[in-house]
Amino acid sequence: MTTLTNHQIRLASRPQGLPVEANWQRSQEPVAQPDEGGVLVQTLALSLDPAMRGWMNEGKSYIPPVGIGEVMRAGGVGRVVASRNPAFAVGDAVYASLGVQEYALIPAAEVRRSGLAKIDLRAGSLTQWLNVLGMPGMTGYFGLMDVGVPKAGETLVVSGAAGAVGQTVGQLAKIKGLRVVGIAGGQAKCDWVVKELGFDACIDYKAGDVRAGLKEYCPSGVDIYFDNVGGDILDAVLARINRKARIVICGAISQYNNTTAVQGPRNYMSLLVNRARMEGMVVFDYADRYPQAIAELAGYLRDGRMKSREDVVEGLQSFPDALLRLFSGANFGKLVLKVAD
Ligand SMILES: NC(=O)c1ccc[n+]([C@@H]2O[C@H](COP(=O)([O-])OP(=O)(O)OC[C@H]3O[C@@H](n4cnc5c(N)ncnc54)[C@H](OP(=O)(O)O)[C@@H]3O)[C@@H](O)[C@H]2O)c1
Repeated sequence: MTTLTNHQIRLASRPQGLPVEANWQRSQEPVAQPDEGGVLVQTLALSLDPAMRGWMNEGKSYIPPVGIGEVMRAGGVGRVVASRNPAFAVGDAVYASLGVQEYALIPAAEVRRSGLAKIDLRAGSLTQWLNVLGMPGMTGYFGLMDVGVPKAGETLVVSGAAGAVGQTVGQLAKIKGLRVVGIAGGQAKCDWVVKELGFDACIDYKAGDVRAGLKEYCPSGVDIYFDNVGGDILDAVLARINRKARIVICGAISQYNNTTAVQGPRNYMSLLVNRARMEGMVVFDYADRYPQAIAELAGYLRDGRMKSREDVVEGLQSFPDALLRLFSGANFGKLVLKVAD
């Protein structure tokens, strides 16, 4: 049998601000075979996530940073190409933390920690398993249902509305009977969430005044704000919240490449005045309940009540440039890196 070569992208140094090419190192090595209980997975597609920027920093977070010289961490979908684990057979489609590389050798001791799980391609395509049925979908689902606690008739605002998490949140909130207002960058994204996804309105934050848009489209105030971006947009929404509003702190992408301190909410006194709650969430805390959420979301995909848009960039070597798309807003839908057919 000819030995396969594994091309990889490793973290070479920690970025200051936006990552640059010099922060990455391209490597290759022969593919080894799995140990007893281990599995070898060929990467088909990788999830490119804003959180990757945080994993490149030193310091404590909800997950340890990627070490210098290590293969960059990435969730992905792939195909089992060798297995010494009875739960996985050659040919199985799987999700796992695969890393930015063509082959992921998952030793027996790492199977659980890698999140290795079979995926059912009848429920959704490979890329949908990185979007609505994957980590962003789980984030939207549990962030909305458990932290946002939606009630029919309420008004929800979601930023990053056309992105991976945002599209699930907005569509799910519509299904649950809420009025939904998105915030996104550019007319095309705003048109898509309103005309294709059925949001009630969308504010193009790059074109105009978010406060004026909120006033116009949320005449009864805001009951739930699902925050993906932080910064000035968070402040603008805090100024419009209702009594007992819930603010879901999912992410703050506007702050991830800061070289100065993160900008916190200036309008936080609005929480006091309105007896409101602001709560952070991390998707991994809900791992035990993913099957329930996947079943519900797969049902909506099947009956057409939910759409799933992915933005696919080709080739492992495109990773450094592709990642930057998240921070300029060049991605339209869940950003996926296709690595192999
Ligand atoms: N807490 C958790 O467990 C968890 C899990 C997954 C994701 N997240 C967070 O959820 C958020 C969305 O992630 P995603 O995977 O769905 O990404 P995404 O929305 O698909 O892509 C990122 C989007 O952020 C927007 N953006 C970039 N810079 C911005 C800025 N300065 N101000 C406003 N918007 C900006 C861009 O859209 P526009 O064109 O609209 O600007 C871009 O397309 C991120 O903050 C991420 O860290 C949290």
